[in-house]
Amino acid sequence: MHDRSSGGQDGPEALPLVGDGVTPGIVRVGDTVRRPLRPFSGTVQAYLAHLHRNGFTDAPVPLGTDEQGREVLTYVPGDVPREPLPAKTAGEDVLAALARLIRLLHEAGDGWTPPADATWGGIPGSAAAGREAVEGAPELVGHRDYCPGNVVFRDGLPAALIDFDLARPTTRLYEIANALYWWVPLLDPRDRAPGFADLDAARRVSVFVDAYGLTGRRRAELVPLATRMIHRFHTSARAAADRDPVFHRLWEEGVKDRMPRAESWIAREGPAIAALITP
Ligand SMILES: Nc1ncnc2c1ncn2[C@@H]1O[C@H](COP(=O)(O)OP(=O)(O)OP(=O)(O)O)[C@@H](O)[C@H]1O
Ligand SMILES: [Mg+2]
Repeated sequence: MHDRSSGGQDGPEALPLVGDGVTPGIVRVGDTVRRPLRPFSGTVQAYLAHLHRNGFTDAPVPLGTDEQGREVLTYVPGDVPREPLPAKTAGEDVLAALARLIRLLHEAGDGWTPPADATWGGIPGSAAAGREAVEGAPELVGHRDYCPGNVVFRDGLPAALIDFDLARPTTRLYEIANALYWWVPLLDPRDRAPGFADLDAARRVSVFVDAYGLTGRRRAELVPLATRMIHRFHTSARAAADRDPVFHRLWEEGVKDRMPRAESWIAREGPAIAALITP
């Protein structure tokens, strides 16, 4: 028959939503999305509520929980790309629009004090130890996971952010480095999607930081932070692969080769990027 529901209880209008497969059991029901409730869901909903109150509306509205104990959020209309990134998302206008979106997110989130009992998410096995050494002393709560599957496009440009599962206190610079990793991307050219392989990474970083409005000393700190971040992506992906079958599959399918290549690439190309963005 034509019942595409996840189990019948949501009725025939329920559509399974599959991202990169990290979170099973996500469904769309009408104008809402239902996601499994996790220890950090309440904290993320409080953050989303603060963002909307403070004028950042390009994110799901938190609607609490449903009768099945799932998290409920509004469905955000638009198109969500998947890896490999389609060539039509390689324009510099995409980078600039994403940078402005993240800047608005930061302006709305700045000054928010998380609840005293806040609980944050993370990838399996990711230790708190060393996080501050990579990201810097926290300044604000950020999204921290600007992978393609978490950016909603409308009219060909980034228009909204979804999936705040990795949100937690961090720094503006870490947020920028994270977005650059996915969207420049900060990878060896042979590991980029075809439409991205020949692009000038330094120029793309420069477009992004200009659109974000990154100024002063922070510009000089960006490449060292991105270098630390990529190293940690490598070590934490290996740790997660040892603990979790989804991360194990991702590791074997290419992360194990891509991450050491990304580390060599940023060591080689980082100085040119730093030179272009530093006055
Ligand atoms: N609120 C929403 N509005 C619109 N689409 C959504 C929403 N939540 C999830 N989706 C869709 O479902 C997909 C998977 O959701 P989500 O990103 O929350 O899960 P995930 O398993 O963490 O995915 P990924 O591994 O891609 O990050 C998203 O990439 C998007 O296409
Ligand atoms: Mg996602």
